Amino acid sequence: MTSTTETTSVSEKPPAAGVRAGLFRDPFRYLMDAAARHDGLVRIGPALLNVYVVSHPDYIRRILVTNAANYPKGSMMAPFRTALGNGLVTSEGDYWKRQRRLMQPAFHSEQLQAMEAHIAGCVERAVERWRRAAAQGTPLDIMEEGTRLNVEIVLGTLFSTSLDVERAERLRALTSQVFAGLASKVWTFFVPDRLPLPGATAYRRAVAELDAEVYRIIAERRTAATRPRDLLGLLLDAEHADTGERMSDLQLRDEVFTLFMAGYETTATGTTWICYELARHPEIADAVAGELDRAGVRTLPAFAELSQLGYQRRVIDEAFRLHPAFPIWFRTAVDADILGSYRLPENAKIIVNPHITHRDPRFWEDPEAFDPDRFTPDRFDSARRHAYYPFGKGSRVCIGERLAVTITQMVVSALVRNFEFTIVEGFEVIPRYVVTCQPKGGLPLVLRER
Ligand code: HEM
Repeated sequence: MTSTTETTSVSEKPPAAGVRAGLFRDPFRYLMDAAARHDGLVRIGPALLNVYVVSHPDYIRRILVTNAANYPKGSMMAPFRTALGNGLVTSEGDYWKRQRRLMQPAFHSEQLQAMEAHIAGCVERAVERWRRAAAQGTPLDIMEEGTRLNVEIVLGTLFSTSLDVERAERLRALTSQVFAGLASKVWTFFVPDRLPLPGATAYRRAVAELDAEVYRIIAERRTAATRPRDLLGLLLDAEHADTGERMSDLQLRDEVFTLFMAGYETTATGTTWICYELARHPEIADAVAGELDRAGVRTLPAFAELSQLGYQRRVIDEAFRLHPAFPIWFRTAVDADILGSYRLPENAKIIVNPHITHRDPRFWEDPEAFDPDRFTPDRFDSARRHAYYPFGKGSRVCIGERLAVTITQMVVSALVRNFEFTIVEGFEVIPRYVVTCQPKGGLPLVLRER
């Protein structure tokens, strides 16, 4: 058995939320309610399942950083492996380490810089669409728009310009189906094994079709006369430092599939929640626009100018605090462990819960308030830093964080520089879990040119 440095001699069983009505109907709500009622570690569902929700920052640090070797992704990730195979999100151990080392350079700042024209071009085309919606007075669903925009951006960074619009749209549609299937599969640990899940056939078909499409793209690229320096190009050329080996088609398929799935929906979800908060706080949207004016940004900021936009960055950080795109993710404890005064049993299945950590009143003053200035250096001290992890923590932190933040800054700049916006009157925003956490039915905005 392993233990924390601050181990106490007492190690109690973690409290249990018990099985309540609603567990099977809406497991996500059930677990959020259970976690909010306890102080950072709670067992949920029937005892036999051995499932715990963790949100206390000290325990999170233990699981993701200081004792991460005891906490692989494990069996909770099984549903994801049916789509992502052994890609970076789902792989483990030495294999994961080698792949991460191989892929990391594709996310370095020089590579990001090379994507500047592509990202700016996608955002400019989106602004034209938004202008038309503003002129016609047609509400714009920013979740759908953000998805369309991020698919274009992420596909472009993965495959550069080699994909036509029709093919991109097909990939997007198939990916949405895969996401929807995954969202219901996540809860299979609550559901008896043989119970047929709704949509299982459609899910399998969507994975198979997406698979075929990704293999086709890889095959085309392998035989192409020239190779663009996009992510796929970098992955095709990447060699393991020790063996000189390159990735097989299967490895490439898993990584490309993973980057696409992990990349666009999260970023679109983030943009949507930022718009939600800005629409509810027009004075904050005005302050973001004022900062762009003062920085002399007329249309879109250049990447080099983004670091001057400190207030905008705090707005983004604050929206990611209240609405982490991935509100939960998973680990499995190999050995028993001590978390504070609790003893976590071996093989415990763990649901990591940033959504609750980010709203814990012990770490965040007035946690439900949207207050970007809580991220100023004097207020965002080490205790707060410890309790903030929208992109994860430790060695498995999001590889695409910098790319995601850059895209988000560009999109927020374009929106706020050009438009004022409000949520369509009477529209009720209800969060729903579909692997990411999104507003049910999207987020319809009414735009007016500034
Ligand atoms: C706002 C946008 C994003 C958010 C909130 C986000 C969040 C996260 C989180 C929380 C994790 C860690 C999960 C865990 O520890 O189990 C993660 C991992 C990952 N993310 Fe992101 N992500 C975003 C955008 C992106 C983008 C744009 C890409 C790539 C194109 C990407 C690719 C990945 C990959 C490959 C991993 C697995 C890393 C590893 O285990 O080595 N993400 N992301």
